[in-house]
Amino acid sequence: MADGVETQQHAIETILLEERRYPPPEDFASQANAQPEIYDRDFDEFWETEGRERVTWFEPFDQLYEWEPPYAKWYLGGKLNVCFNCVDRHVEAGNGDKVAYYWEGEPEDERRELTFSDLQVEVVRFANGLKKLGVKKGTPVAIYMGMVPELPIAMLACTRLGAPHTVVFGGFSAESLSGRMNDMECEYLITQDEGWRNGGKVPLKQNADEALEQSPTVKQSVVLRRTGEGPVMKEGRDVWWHELVEGESDDPQSCPCEPMDSEDLLYLLYTSGTTAKPKGIVHTTAGYLVGVASTHYYIFDIKPQSVYWCAADVGWVTGHSYIVYGPLCNGTTGVLYEGVPNYPDKDRWWAIVERYKVDTLYTAPTAIRSHMKWGPEHAEKHDLSSLRLLGTVGEPINPEAWIWYREHIGGDRTPVVDTWWQTETGMILITPLPGVTTLKPGSATKPFPTVDAAVYDEQGSEVGPGGGGYLVLRRPWPAMLRGIYNDDERYRETYWSKYEDVYFAGDGARIDEDGDFWLLGRVDDVMNVSGHRISTIEVESALVDHQKVAEAAVCGRADPTTGQAIVAFVSLKGGDEGSVEMLEELRDHVATKIGKIARPANIVFTPELPKTRSGKIMRRLLRDVSEHRKLGDTTTLADPTVVEEIKERAESEKGAAEE
Ligand code: PRX
Repeated sequence: MADGVETQQHAIETILLEERRYPPPEDFASQANAQPEIYDRDFDEFWETEGRERVTWFEPFDQLYEWEPPYAKWYLGGKLNVCFNCVDRHVEAGNGDKVAYYWEGEPEDERRELTFSDLQVEVVRFANGLKKLGVKKGTPVAIYMGMVPELPIAMLACTRLGAPHTVVFGGFSAESLSGRMNDMECEYLITQDEGWRNGGKVPLKQNADEALEQSPTVKQSVVLRRTGEGPVMKEGRDVWWHELVEGESDDPQSCPCEPMDSEDLLYLLYTSGTTAKPKGIVHTTAGYLVGVASTHYYIFDIKPQSVYWCAADVGWVTGHSYIVYGPLCNGTTGVLYEGVPNYPDKDRWWAIVERYKVDTLYTAPTAIRSHMKWGPEHAEKHDLSSLRLLGTVGEPINPEAWIWYREHIGGDRTPVVDTWWQTETGMILITPLPGVTTLKPGSATKPFPTVDAAVYDEQGSEVGPGGGGYLVLRRPWPAMLRGIYNDDERYRETYWSKYEDVYFAGDGARIDEDGDFWLLGRVDDVMNVSGHRISTIEVESALVDHQKVAEAAVCGRADPTTGQAIVAFVSLKGGDEGSVEMLEELRDHVATKIGKIARPANIVFTPELPKTRSGKIMRRLLRDVSEHRKLGDTTTLADPTVVEEIKERAESEKGAAEE
């Protein structure tokens, strides 16, 4: 296969041109938390000030940071507690009656409102319960739950005691759960009987039981009663949440917040690579908290009256940083929703926005594309005029999806912030600031103030404007990972070996003439067609640009003449099945939009695309399908039947549009 790197100047070629521009609305700009001068601020001054003002310390820090590549430490010498910052201090400041979370269960009649005082009561009682079981500073605890208020309560109770947690997304299997618990050597597990999802029940406790058989370090498990059905409790090992907290004091003094060192372990969160064993990403206390609270405040323009909804799952880093720790640290009112966006109907999200007068909505491109596929009529049924800001995260967003989001959800008025970051970065690093930045659909625009991001070629030289390459970070930032748990070698190898003392993110990117960043997807997803390295996202965006297309995924299939040939998997709007005419039309559309080189050799129409449970398209599986290989690991798929159906379609349409 031809190696594109040698035959051209840039590591990745970029061909998609997007020329729409959206400057910040004047009334937004004039009141925004972040003003243009924020970009002039000095690195040390910015983070010193944020460190002092954004959080409350038991003992102040005496050194801002220490950088011994590839390890950083932040706010050295300081002592603080995350739960105190997220809960107690707001109550002490007289804001106990403010709502911390509006919660909705998936069954429509289940709603709860928790004020910061309520949250404190629940957290203190549960922390006392955990203490009684033997949880103390340093005890590793696993949490495997659905989107119920007790999930953040459990996390906060752990941080109150100084016990590091690992939250395992409730959609993961028993095997994934035990793998993580074994790696962290967890001593306790917090779970629930069942969760609600798409009108059905997820057997969390049953999975947990299976996992516990393979997890010898776990001594006890606490089980929340949610649906009231199912689990068999194991004598001596399992205890009900409600029985554990019975009679426990809710007086904060009965369970004081443990003073933690700035660099004490806060949590591990495992990222599943596509194949290898998940990596336990290490996040510590002070730098992480300052980083997430500060970015949350500036990027989402948080005001005291904000009603903010991040519609991710708490089990992902987005939920950790921007449902739990960042927003609560800022004393923000948030929304928590248990279920899927289309239960009982496709307007559920919009009913929630209307009911709580949500002003900021933060979600993922995959969710936006689902709503696009279902059509704007569901949003039109509701009054969404409370929205003033929209955000996206998790994947490059196709310009058409961005525009749809702004028009149909944001009423053609709200800024849309496309935020780039990773589990490893802990906090948002490349993002517009909504009162400052001129937005470009599909671009995450500028590094957050003080962040030093760049695009390098294979040799480690900076790629000039317009050229594609590898995204790197050249300076530490407060919420950065402190390593991979128990695996220094893999940490160095994965992130720090490609370039010296520079963090390699594994993403392709380009910077345009204005200094704006365009993310091009994971480097592993880059295709090589006749020596041209083409990013999947650009071809996908060209396809989604066609008015009939709802979603598209593109991958490269081995080809004896061109190295790789582009195969596209397309799902059409309104459940349209596709046709040979449509296929030709789409191929021409891509050719016109970005050039003949990117014209897909083959297009397979499919109602759904294979996605991970966090909504990322699994191109690796599409490559397997395209190359008629046995499918690789499908355990992380949200819906494993999807790929079988695609396989059948690909077989039956094989060759339909070969050049
Ligand atoms: O490829 C980038 C993509 O998601 C990866 C990180 O995934 P994860 O650790 O699961 O965290 C997701 C939530 C922070 C990145 O390496 N990604 C994330 N945000 C964007 C993005 N790609 C393009 N644009 C984004 N805004």
